[in-house]
Amino acid sequence: MNDIMTPEKINIIPNENSKIHEIDFDNLVFGKKFSDHMFVMEYEKGSWGQPLIRPYGPVQISPALNTLHYGQAIFEGMKAFYVDEDTINIYRPKDHFERMNYSSRRMGIPETDYETFITALEELIKLDHRFVPTQDQSALYIRPFVFASDDLLAARSSTKFSYYIITSPVGAYYEEGFNPVSLTTTNEYVRAVVGGTGDVKTAGNYAASFLPAKKAKEDGYTQVLWLDAKEHKYVEEVGTMNIHFLIGNTLVTPKLTGSILGGITRRSVTSLAEEWGYNVEERRITIDEVFEASENGTLKEVFGSGTAAVISPVGLIHHQGRKIDFGIDSIGEFAKSLYDEITGIQYGRIEDRHNWIHTVKV
Ligand SMILES: Cc1ncc(COP(=O)(O)O)c(C=O)c1O
Repeated sequence: MNDIMTPEKINIIPNENSKIHEIDFDNLVFGKKFSDHMFVMEYEKGSWGQPLIRPYGPVQISPALNTLHYGQAIFEGMKAFYVDEDTINIYRPKDHFERMNYSSRRMGIPETDYETFITALEELIKLDHRFVPTQDQSALYIRPFVFASDDLLAARSSTKFSYYIITSPVGAYYEEGFNPVSLTTTNEYVRAVVGGTGDVKTAGNYAASFLPAKKAKEDGYTQVLWLDAKEHKYVEEVGTMNIHFLIGNTLVTPKLTGSILGGITRRSVTSLAEEWGYNVEERRITIDEVFEASENGTLKEVFGSGTAAVISPVGLIHHQGRKIDFGIDSIGEFAKSLYDEITGIQYGRIEDRHNWIHTVKV
């Protein structure tokens, strides 16, 4: 299906039974409630079929579904923001779309086209605009995903795929909100290897990280700070965010070596830091260098970046019995400025000088 997609080409079955009254917009839990509609498109015999928007609801699958056994599945995570009653801003949809196809290529999944993607998002947002929260720090989380849908117990690529987009009104991602999170390295596990799938958003990466994340939580930390799989000394990223270190006047961000997910928020952070006159280095950084910088007083701030939390200050890093402790309430000025700037652009309070916003008129 290579035609340019127009809204008329998406069949729409409206939801006659809205669930909007079930949503407590003042107490949103991340990813728990969903909007009334979802987008669906099926791939078989070498091409994508008719796009459809229909009421959000259960999907019937075979117990032999390829994805359940072999995990041939990719996804994206992006957000849309309430500006005013007529306007919703989607943040960097083209970048998310391109990363989705990058993930698809690595996982042997057929790519999709931008026209379908953006038209589907616009239509979903128009239909479900009442689900976009108006509250501070809240947004409509958008989850596109593609999964293998052959029902065949054979460990080979599927020939059928299903493409869905669901949306969910969300509040702050971490219980901490914009307050600092705590991170620990682990000696026992690694997240991803170069040549593997760490740089794409595929289901198995996350499944493999849940046990280490649970152990970190039991030890009192919010998340794992992953080190590289080979030498176990270079800092890579956190469970669902990239990591940044402000050392003196230099923003150091671990370089994308193939095992780190290239975050879209990470890109926003490095662009803004450059514009604001900081030295910006994307390079490998060892955990020892981070501790040395802390000891000699040059480590000013550590923070994570990601769609879910936007910017998340890191208050504490634990590594092999040693700790860097910024203090439980410490929110760095730089992290705060980035948070204010990015969220300002997202909610339409600050001019979108970078063309990051796709506006939907509802
Ligand atoms: C493993 C991982 N790293 C980093 C990120 C941050 O990426 P982004 O800023 O595109 O959300 C995410 C979230 O998508 C992630 O899952």
